[in-house]
Amino acid sequence: MREILLDLPGRPDSYRILVAPGLRRRLPELLAPLNPSRPLFLISDERVARLHGAAVKGDLEEAGYNSLLLTTPVGERAKTWGVVQRLARELLARGAHRRSLLLALGGGVVGDAAGFLASIFMRGIPFVQIPTTVLAMVDAAIGGKTAINLPEGKNLLGTFHQPRLVAIDPEFLETLPPAQRRNGLAEVLKAGFIRDPDLLARLDAARGRLFEDFEELADIIYRTAAIKARVVAADEREGGLRRILNFGHTLGHALEQASRYRLPHGPAVAWGMAAALYLSERLCGLPHEEARRGRSLLRSFGLLRRPPALDPRAVLAALPMDKKREAGGLVFILLRRLGEPVIHEGAPLGLIEEALINALSGER
Ligand SMILES: NC(=O)c1ccc[n+]([C@@H]2O[C@H](COP(=O)([O-])OP(=O)(O)OC[C@H]3O[C@@H](n4cnc5c(N)ncnc54)[C@H](O)[C@@H]3O)[C@@H](O)[C@H]2O)c1
Repeated sequence: MREILLDLPGRPDSYRILVAPGLRRRLPELLAPLNPSRPLFLISDERVARLHGAAVKGDLEEAGYNSLLLTTPVGERAKTWGVVQRLARELLARGAHRRSLLLALGGGVVGDAAGFLASIFMRGIPFVQIPTTVLAMVDAAIGGKTAINLPEGKNLLGTFHQPRLVAIDPEFLETLPPAQRRNGLAEVLKAGFIRDPDLLARLDAARGRLFEDFEELADIIYRTAAIKARVVAADEREGGLRRILNFGHTLGHALEQASRYRLPHGPAVAWGMAAALYLSERLCGLPHEEARRGRSLLRSFGLLRRPPALDPRAVLAALPMDKKREAGGLVFILLRRLGEPVIHEGAPLGLIEEALINALSGER
């Protein structure tokens, strides 16, 4: 079993991030040290509940933990005030109290919504993350950011509420559709780009058999999760270092928004990373060969497939206005070398447009 300790300086609530194939069957023993009150409250979306809910619940019950499974709709519709309120009322109706434990079993959506609920229910109750998508395993389940959406935009209501434990079992990914796998791999590649060129080499070597070799997959998830954990430990609230996690995301978010969210997050971030590699070459001296390798890796994992038919000017218009007004202009995370990020301010809009056109044209 691979273990990461997320140690938040000056805070009592450090927690373990565990990664191992088959870990879901060991949940009862992992939960025991948390001394949870009964029943346990499992929260899942309807799809994950159908695929994995009964097995997880069965294992818990066999070990003497009675548990109740509450479900949310599938997708972003779960991250709404209405759903959180309904879940809170279901918790009350079933006897939840200040020491009840929530288990978030699902992707980033379930983790965000259940984490948000845990952070405000009776002023905060403990919760555990059991992520079931690549994205949630390497990113969303780690770091304690929770959120729901408003009609005005995504993640506008949120809290910081750290889980008590993150239990990652790559075997859940057997049922994850290819598009969702690619979505998460964009974040794995991002971690390699900003912090760990060896991870990139490892990923490259495992390409094609990644979702068949669960030990290899567990290692890759572990290394990626460790990068996020180290960055979060150093900068829980995104004052400085945590911003490097935004590599590819400034343009990625603008692309998502300009496409009216028809372009999924993973591919959008991948196009954003391709543009950031182009900017890095021009503004920070990233060697051409490394930029080319970065784009080729993105392509080889099925990202950068069909360029979205978007007007680069519409994408520029979707860049966050507040950041445009910051002294020195837009802030981008760029690379000096693969694995060496820099916070760059003041990239000229003309060059950003050129980077977008270049990335979206699929040029090597
Ligand atoms: N809190 C954070 O730090 C953070 C970081 C990144 C992203 N996020 C949030 O995460 C969300 C995206 O997460 P996501 O990509 O995991 O999406 P998701 O939770 O919607 O899951 C994607 C789809 O996969 C299905 N699914 C999940 N696990 C499955 C499995 N094992 N087998 C088959 N199907 C499965 C889900 O039902 C859903 O349809 C966004 O809302 C985003 O804002 C949060």
